[in-house]
Amino acid sequence: MKPALLASALLLSIACAQELQSTPAQQATAAPPAAVMQRGQQIYQSYCKTCHQANGQGIPGVYPPLAKSDYLKDKQAVIRALVFGLSGKIVVNGKTYNGVMPPAPYNDADLAAVLTYVYNSFGNSGGIVTAQEVAAVRKAGKPGQKK
Ligand code: HEC
Repeated sequence: MKPALLASALLLSIACAQELQSTPAQQATAAPPAAVMQRGQQIYQSYCKTCHQANGQGIPGVYPPLAKSDYLKDKQAVIRALVFGLSGKIVVNGKTYNGVMPPAPYNDADLAAVLTYVYNSFGNSGGIVTAQEVAAVRKAGKPGQKK
């Protein structure tokens, strides 16, 4: 191998190694892996779609939209909603909802995948949710609830 070629091969492998070690902040801007999107879509179709509808538009007054939902800005709140369920009054894109979402019966990796899918679908602005983030929320426990 020519030295120049060797050097670029070396650089490439360093770049790959760094990508594997990327921090959560870096992951937030990266495109999600195809396998994660696929798994997320599968879960969305078989579970979330029943209420939030095929295009994430929800049902006015009953199920809030996931498409361009301003609620998605608070990632921790979103993870908490899925892990522990969500009920009571919430405001999404200026409209009030007062329904009940049961806890989603999925493990950390699956919840991370479906949320990553939601953040990268329906015209939403992207972002990645990791299994570690879901695990941390689960571990912290439901807010206001005695353990
Ligand atoms: C049984 C119906 C039902 C299912 C299934 C369901 N949700 Fe929900 N979801 C709701 C309701 C109802 C609310 C609003 C709860 C409230 O008013 O307090 C909600 C709220 C939300 C919110 C916060 C508000 C918003 O629109 O941004 C997100 C995010 C969300 N759901 C995501 C999901 C995802 C992802 C899944 C699948 C893993 C899912 N939901 C499955 C009924 C459901």
